[in-house]
Amino acid sequence: MENQELINRLSSIKSLPTLPVVADNVIKLTQNPDSTAFEIAEAISLDQSLASKVLKTANSAYYGFPRKINTINYAIVVLGLNNIKNIVLSTSIMGQFPKKNQNLLFDRKDFWKHSLLCGIIAKKISEHVGIKNSEEMFMCGLLHDFGKLILDTFFQEEFVCALQMAEKNQLTVMEAENRVFGFNHSGVGALLLRKWSLPPSLVKSVEFHHNPEETPNVFRTASIVHVSDYLCRRIGIGNSGGTVLPELNKKSFKLVDLTSDQIKELTLQIKKEFKTATEFLYEGETDDDKTP
Ligand SMILES: [Fe+2]
Ligand SMILES: [Fe+2]
Repeated sequence: MENQELINRLSSIKSLPTLPVVADNVIKLTQNPDSTAFEIAEAISLDQSLASKVLKTANSAYYGFPRKINTINYAIVVLGLNNIKNIVLSTSIMGQFPKKNQNLLFDRKDFWKHSLLCGIIAKKISEHVGIKNSEEMFMCGLLHDFGKLILDTFFQEEFVCALQMAEKNQLTVMEAENRVFGFNHSGVGALLLRKWSLPPSLVKSVEFHHNPEETPNVFRTASIVHVSDYLCRRIGIGNSGGTVLPELNKKSFKLVDLTSDQIKELTLQIKKEFKTATEFLYEGETDDDKTP
């Protein structure tokens, strides 16, 4: 059951972000098995700026396609619908929030680095445990802490309070948020993503990424995000606020079935992939902004 206080607070926001219409259409089309690649390409092309960002990301080293991808249609053919859906969704969501902000305790570039890394790890772990649609797991990882961005955007004063409290009392950010707001970023992110009609498994994995055992139906997905988040913090690229590492859920860790050697190997691969994934992060910025 959703926290009433959370619902009230979010309803009090006059300009709550909405998913851009084109992105919304594309997501709906990709969920409909009768849609054709041509229809989806046409929907993306209605927004020229989105279309060029999709092409730029599709041509990035992360996807490593050897030939130049010049059209959205071709991008769908070579990268597949799920990857294109991810690019559209991540570009549309990131584009709504400025990467520079006033809150010195919450660096948004570091936040997106943490999020992107978590997405990459979640995809890798999904492949390891044999999940077919590992691309959807990338989005679950990418958006797991999305609620923090909402708190930082709309309730910054209290969010800063929570971050300071976490630091001072050695709490996790989630614990401090619970004390300050009476809810935390997991619920905030899930509520907004649910409003945007994103897939229920994605929404649940965001909602329960700190306590996967509380969602038996989506335990596997939430566990993968939970472990990815933990590994992310251990690897130390990016930062999502706070210094106290949330506790690792043992059942979730057992489920992902990784030996310490596999974790070492995975960490090496992930660091390499992360370097190639920067088009997701620096879209629309000048080279000067692309500080490592
Ligand atoms: Fe979190
Ligand atoms: Fe996180």
